[in-house]
Amino acid sequence: MKSFPPYRVQVVKAIPITTREEREEALARAGYNMFDLPANMVTIDLLTDSGTGAVSAAQEAGAAAADRSYAGSDSWFRFKSALEDLTSFPHLFPVHQGRAAERILFSTALKPGQISLSNTHFDTTRANVELAGAEARDLPCPEAADLDSRDPFKGNIDLGALEETLSGPDGSRVGQVLITITNNGGGGQPVSMANLKAVRALCDRFGVPFFLDAARFAENSWLIIQRENGYVGKTPKEVAQETFALADGFVASLKKDAISPMGAAIGVRDEQLAKQCEAILIATEGFRTYGGLGGHDLERVAQGLQEVVDPDYLRNRAEETAHFARLINEAGVDIVQPAGVHGLYLNAGRLLQHMPPHGFPGHALACELYLAGGIRCAELGSLYLGTFDDEHNLISPAPFELVRLAIPRRTYTLAHLEYVADVLASIAKNPESVPEYRVTHAPQLLRHFNLKLRQVPRTVS
Ligand code: F0G
Repeated sequence: MKSFPPYRVQVVKAIPITTREEREEALARAGYNMFDLPANMVTIDLLTDSGTGAVSAAQEAGAAAADRSYAGSDSWFRFKSALEDLTSFPHLFPVHQGRAAERILFSTALKPGQISLSNTHFDTTRANVELAGAEARDLPCPEAADLDSRDPFKGNIDLGALEETLSGPDGSRVGQVLITITNNGGGGQPVSMANLKAVRALCDRFGVPFFLDAARFAENSWLIIQRENGYVGKTPKEVAQETFALADGFVASLKKDAISPMGAAIGVRDEQLAKQCEAILIATEGFRTYGGLGGHDLERVAQGLQEVVDPDYLRNRAEETAHFARLINEAGVDIVQPAGVHGLYLNAGRLLQHMPPHGFPGHALACELYLAGGIRCAELGSLYLGTFDDEHNLISPAPFELVRLAIPRRTYTLAHLEYVADVLASIAKNPESVPEYRVTHAPQLLRHFNLKLRQVPRTVS
């Protein structure tokens, strides 16, 4: 039997409907940078699943009744108790968003010159490791390199490489192992419980702390139940509890799996580490019982954390993403297989194989989705990961030219996703007509947010 969303829509927001001419003008004005497009020129926004989920009536009821006391508010105790229900961490702190959690935890847990090992560091995570003076090193499992492989846990860390690094000449410099669940930078693929347990054992053996970047903990738990032996019949909450129990600490952006517009948390077991985190938290974010969040967002998180582990919700969300993946495949476009939950990663390099990496096929496909259908999404290819010379020429391309279609939670209906697949099908019918792009401006810092490009006019042959 087909699943359906365990909720009905009660409040709606109109979305802008634009003409191709209006979109051409808007994108040119934005310097062909998706982050510079005004949202009122976007019809379907698949730029991110972060802070973009639809809130529930129960979340808004909590928000309306929120307690804004500076210290010890009721809203804080609800936030804390929702996190305690899922995690077993004795020290929990609220922060305004994930990157603040990263900055606080890494600036205390890591020392300059140390190494952070991960399945894949998300971009802000990498930046915060580097700001702490440490090196961020990714050790994705070998299966991740084959975009078409349907291996169930392509988000895993390469255990062999992890053990080799820990026991090798760099071993004494490893300050933390950080596992991102699900692996957003690695195609949104899940990490298995077996992999997490093996990481725990290696961290114990080498005396290194094991942290989770748990932004999508519920979706990872769901995929463990679906794909890993021994988890059928467990609830997402039980799997989440088992996951958190393995780690020494976590950072989690709660803009994803707490379905909140804002919020994040840090959890640690070590008392000394907790004291240091708390000092930085109070100095830079806010007092330990609100951490830069308003009472309303503490409440939305507390309620969202209960809603997100509902198996009916997770089943339907995962099935909608899988359905979207099938539609895209039928449209003639390949994705990173198998479909995860929070987004689909299009293989733009394969679709636009006529285009060299210096024409930025991922970005070209993203621009075409906008121009043809008002759909906004982001490139994960050479524009984001390649290296450039001083004249903004690409000197080394990324291994893959991908485009991420992130799927906001509870926000779009299947009809919206079908529309996106239709637009993709129209592009896939004539991929040679998609123009290349060149970079005209690229700052050193946070390049992909601030790039400017130009379209290369197509010469008719
Ligand atoms: N870690 C992961 C795995 C993330 O995906 C993100 C954000 C963060 C940390 C940072 O959290 O945004 O609350 O500061 N990812 C968003 C995305 C931005 O679009 O994937 P934040």
